[in-house]
Amino acid sequence: MKAGREELMEIVDVWGYSEEAQAKIRAILESEDPPPPHLFRYYGPLEGKGKVWQAERLFEETIGTTHALAVNSGTSALMSAVAAAGIGPGDEVIVPGYTFFASASIVVASRAIPVITEVNDSLNLDPEDVRRRLTPQTRAIIAVHMKGMPADMAEIMAIAAEHDLIVIEDVAQACGGSYGGKMLGTIGDLGAFSFDFYKVAQSGEGGFVATDDVFLNMRAQSWHDTAACWRPDRYAAERSEGELFCGENYRMSEMQGAVALVQVRKLSGYVSRLQAAKRKVRDRIEERDGFALRRRPDPAGDASTALVMFGPSPEGAMAIMAAMGERGVGAGGRFDQTVRDWHVYNFWEHILEQKTVTEEGCPFTCPYYQGTLPEYSPEMCPNTLDLLGRSIHLGVSEDWTDEDGERIADAINGAVAEVMG
Ligand SMILES: Cc1ncc(COP(=O)(O)O)c(C=O)c1O
Repeated sequence: MKAGREELMEIVDVWGYSEEAQAKIRAILESEDPPPPHLFRYYGPLEGKGKVWQAERLFEETIGTTHALAVNSGTSALMSAVAAAGIGPGDEVIVPGYTFFASASIVVASRAIPVITEVNDSLNLDPEDVRRRLTPQTRAIIAVHMKGMPADMAEIMAIAAEHDLIVIEDVAQACGGSYGGKMLGTIGDLGAFSFDFYKVAQSGEGGFVATDDVFLNMRAQSWHDTAACWRPDRYAAERSEGELFCGENYRMSEMQGAVALVQVRKLSGYVSRLQAAKRKVRDRIEERDGFALRRRPDPAGDASTALVMFGPSPEGAMAIMAAMGERGVGAGGRFDQTVRDWHVYNFWEHILEQKTVTEEGCPFTCPYYQGTLPEYSPEMCPNTLDLLGRSIHLGVSEDWTDEDGERIADAINGAVAEVMG
């Protein structure tokens, strides 16, 4: 059954246009009878160079990488990156204790051991704790750039070089950010991006895997398109060792590709507006003993989706948030431990309790694993819990005017003064 006008009208309805507008669109569409659309990314009249392909090429250009592979989610991007790097049974992978659970769950799904590691005052991986948690089994580091902020990439890359580790950047929350003049996701061996609805750029669901390495790209392609195996026109020019294996299907459809293409076009402009808006508030905030802004490992590279601050204590942070609320500025915190937050490791009971999809308990019981399992417990990263407990999070809006900046900063400074004296 061919897709046609009715399907397109259903998509128009997703955008929520009025009945009147939809009737006009329908009338215009009825005046033409084009061939059915080709929603599968490969083949078709454009010979595979449709919306997904165009989004990939534009994404490569935008972030400065030689290969970008579109996939159907950020989780798929991470899985493809891990598969491309050949990480699996017997390997340990460093993951931060503060990230969306997907960054850790894909390690277990790949049958490797996640080593949950502290974050520092950037709320991203703490390189010192990474060093402490290295073992002979460590194979890779997943460096997550949380809430728009680049991680301490110079230190992380130095550790990786010293110990011959793979670095996968999880850029789900920081697309468009940079570090040391390089776009996030192009510093490590592979970058994994999410284009789900809540992200900087979105296509409802979607994602990209970025790499400069032709072999890793080819393996990510193989993993994401299981049935294809080897297609010389799309994959590496020649069959090489390690190219063929059984994968899954994470292909992006042309509908997601069409939206992603426009979002990539808008990305730099959007991030610049977020950065300008955040500066309007951040530059006016008065730090003091016990009240600090989140550290920026590279101020110029902050994608600026959020403004994060630290109070003197969890109770102090709650009181500051309440006082901000009274001044008309709402913020969120991490103190209420009764609210399950999948971004904080102490709620990851699947890992802490080693729950696995099959009963034999792999990877935690895997005979290929020669190491000693980390001591999984809700207390294993106390600094992370301390920092998050004291943190105050405010979403940034690209629409903030100078007046908004002044009003929000006054509310924050006033709230801090009221609570801390
Ligand atoms: C840091 C991080 N990594 C990975 C993901 C997974 O992305 P997706 O929802 O597209 O699968 C998310 C999404 O929330 C995320 O925030």
